Amino acid sequence: MPGADRDWWRQAAVYQVYPRSFADANGDGIGDLRGITSRVPYLVELGVDAVWLSPFYPSALADGGYDVDDYRDVDPRLGTLDDFDELVAALHAAGIRMIVDIVPNHSSDRHEWFREALASPRGSAARDRYLFRDGEGPDASEPPSDWTSMFGGSAWEPVGDGQFYLHLFAREQPDLNWGNREVRDDFLTTLRFWSDRGVDGFRVDVAHALAKDLTYPLRSHAELEADKLAGDGAHPLWDREELDEIYAEWRAVFDEYDPPRTAVAEAWVEPHRRARYAAPTSLGQAFNFDLLRAAFGAESFREVVARNLELTRGTGSSNTWVLSNHDVVRHATRYALPDDASDDGAVAREWLLAGGDPAALDPERGLRRARAASLFLLALPGSAYLYQGEELGLPEVAEIPDADRQDPTFFRNAGVDVGRDGCRVPLPWTASGGAFGFGPDGSTASHLPQPDWFASFAVGAESDDPGSTLSMYRAALDLRRRLQGAEELEWVDTGSPDVLAFRRPGGWTVVTNFGPSPAPLPAWAVGREVLLASGPSVSLAEVAGETTVWLR
Ligand code: GLC
Ligand code: CA
Repeated sequence: MPGADRDWWRQAAVYQVYPRSFADANGDGIGDLRGITSRVPYLVELGVDAVWLSPFYPSALADGGYDVDDYRDVDPRLGTLDDFDELVAALHAAGIRMIVDIVPNHSSDRHEWFREALASPRGSAARDRYLFRDGEGPDASEPPSDWTSMFGGSAWEPVGDGQFYLHLFAREQPDLNWGNREVRDDFLTTLRFWSDRGVDGFRVDVAHALAKDLTYPLRSHAELEADKLAGDGAHPLWDREELDEIYAEWRAVFDEYDPPRTAVAEAWVEPHRRARYAAPTSLGQAFNFDLLRAAFGAESFREVVARNLELTRGTGSSNTWVLSNHDVVRHATRYALPDDASDDGAVAREWLLAGGDPAALDPERGLRRARAASLFLLALPGSAYLYQGEELGLPEVAEIPDADRQDPTFFRNAGVDVGRDGCRVPLPWTASGGAFGFGPDGSTASHLPQPDWFASFAVGAESDDPGSTLSMYRAALDLRRRLQGAEELEWVDTGSPDVLAFRRPGGWTVVTNFGPSPAPLPAWAVGREVLLASGPSVSLAEVAGETTVWLR
């Protein structure tokens, strides 16, 4: 949207679309770009400011599309470049921006560069675009080091001629060599390619991994793990200083456009390192996953918010808040778990798969707390990143048969981690009908199986119910737009350790009772107008347990 407000991103509500699971226009069971275009009216009614589109590029789907064959094209199963242009035009016409996911740390093993590398000899220019190293041992059959991939197993894959290539993720995701000028330039071309097509911003996948130091001798896995949290920019694989230089080049490209293109870093780094990625001279914003990992409680939420406001102050960036995305157990389910298992996505997945007793899940409590946490988040200063389906209060799907699973996390960690498919099941649009309305009329196809209980979370079931989670999100996003002012927050005393309250400029006041039982409203809040509540029982004098209210 040319000439538009250059600060639009600072407090935007950004809705993540996982394209293969959002809406399927042609009935093959895979969500597609036309499907998204057909649902733009839904996004308008929901009231989001931007869409973040997870990878839609040609891919063998070894990792849900984060294994990219060609950075400047559309997966034919999802549509064409023309379909992409139509989607952007439809979103822009509705006043919604478009952020696309970019995956610079690794390509897929089907990318033309990687094929060329395999066909070329050791030491060739083609191999230098990736991270090939000689094997160890008398016949070079041992990997260069004992490093493990993020999805389990060795991070090195042999190619049959004594060399191995590095893959921090799946074997089908060879890491690119960011010390190579051609690699850097090609990504600048890609950034311009999508920016020229009208894309407003980028979500940068594993932004903290691009720069690497593979100087010999390579240190052991145990040494690297011990060092991981040092946060001093000297780890050979993660969060290195040279990233600043890479992203400064990206920034120069973003600034060629009006308004400048934006970016948000996915960087799982120590909180104090986040500002490097979020600097105006770098990507501009970085995800803060602290709320996503925090236990549901007044103390932990307050600590996370206060620390992040402090870290962001004076950096030129704005805050980012996240409770769910395509990599973690949905928050309605995390909060339904026993408290010791609820604070971390991986712990929750292991719990669900292994020792966890499903009878210990309390879905009603999970939903109640999810709604309270979401309403708390939506009132914070900064950007809110929402994941498709959370506006329906959708829980994680635990009951996916092994034969239907797709996530490499599941395959590389047999019996330990069930993987991320449970939050990627196609959305239910209608309570009845094939695939719950995911596809066109008459289609029953869905690339991951949907459980029967999806019916009660369908858009159609929730749309006209004023008490539904969808109605709460719509009301919240609408109010948020109108109430939002300066990026400031002032804590207000509540006299209760379970109750948090803060005020935004203009008198917008938020009270969350994290405790299980009703708490009296602080005296200063009694008699105020209740704008919105996450639960039904709000009297003028108290807040129900695990409930957020917005007051004025
Ligand atoms: C990011 C993505 C995740 C993907 C990984 C490798 O963490 O969010 O889905 O598996 O990067 O690209
Ligand atoms: Ca389709």
